[in-house]
Amino acid sequence: MSDYTTLERDARARIDAAADLAALEALRVEYLGKQGSVSALLKTLGAMSPDERLEKGPQIQGLRQAVSDALGARKAAMEAAELEARLASETVDLTLPAREAPAGSVHPVSQVMDELAEIFADLGFSVATGPEIEDDWYNFTALNMPESHPARAMHDTFYFPADEESPADGRMLLRTHTSPVQIRSMMALGAPLRIIAPGRVYRSDSDATHTPMFHQVEGLVIDRDIHLGHLKWTLETFLGAFFEREDIVLRLRPSYFPFTEPSVEVDVGFALENGKRVLGGSGDAPGHAWMELLGSGMVNRRVIEMAGLDPDEWQGFAFGVGVDRLAMLKYGMDDLRAFFDGDVRWLRHYGFSFLDQPTLSAGVGARA
Ligand code: PHE
Repeated sequence: MSDYTTLERDARARIDAAADLAALEALRVEYLGKQGSVSALLKTLGAMSPDERLEKGPQIQGLRQAVSDALGARKAAMEAAELEARLASETVDLTLPAREAPAGSVHPVSQVMDELAEIFADLGFSVATGPEIEDDWYNFTALNMPESHPARAMHDTFYFPADEESPADGRMLLRTHTSPVQIRSMMALGAPLRIIAPGRVYRSDSDATHTPMFHQVEGLVIDRDIHLGHLKWTLETFLGAFFEREDIVLRLRPSYFPFTEPSVEVDVGFALENGKRVLGGSGDAPGHAWMELLGSGMVNRRVIEMAGLDPDEWQGFAFGVGVDRLAMLKYGMDDLRAFFDGDVRWLRHYGFSFLDQPTLSAGVGARA
């Protein structure tokens, strides 16, 4: 038995009895600190004879190691016990309802635009954008709208005051439709081309079904052998996916737009159910009627030419439809003005969760 056995046993007993981490730290200082008793023993080695040192050296080192190990073990045990106690006292009641965090909602217009992007992406269309402050050339001239066209009149269109920054050939204005994006896309991307262009448009109009600002989505396909059949199929496919119905019936009526030739007004069959318009079925079927839904046509060759493409090589179709109108038909609102009032109660009622991403597989816009 070495001379240090008693010291070691003593130290162990005190370490085991230490009440807390502070007491344990005091013991560490007492034994192993600079002035500690074990440290003092280590210092005596220097004055010993080689033989004595050979005998005592390992014993004192052993003692130091044993005290250090005991301190470490006790500390780990104390920490584990402390954690144990915390875990036991700080229980989490997983059955409590989560606290409600204030969350905004996705506006129906944004939701519908996302749905449109999802549907048309599946048909190979990309999303294009253009400025809301347009110049006269993109909004009218390049779309083959003559000076005399009524949409050019001051009472229909918001013009900016003419000043030294105005382009020489016309004034700046708030775009009256998304059709200028047709021109911008053809000029920027060339042909072939498949785009939709959702966005805000402005007209000097205001009543229950017209607001000075509203939303449209433009569609444009340019390729070598596009015809009206492609237009009809695309619209049927889009509307079927959008309204999640397989019985959408369209009626194409001859019409006139300066930027399409021929031009086609598209009606959709619907029935009234509980005072709401429900799309589906032929408008000629009993209890059904036709509703005008959108304007479209084959892109006028003059427009293709003005956008810098060869109209003998490229042709295509375009359509424009009101996004707010689509939202009202799908989700059942009846006053367009409420869309832009910013009434939180309306937004809560008609808004969508940002987690509710439209996907074709889950049903665009589907929700409980
Ligand atoms: N720009 C037209 C409108 O606002 C709609 C339209 C777009 C018609 C494309 C034909 C082709 O009424």
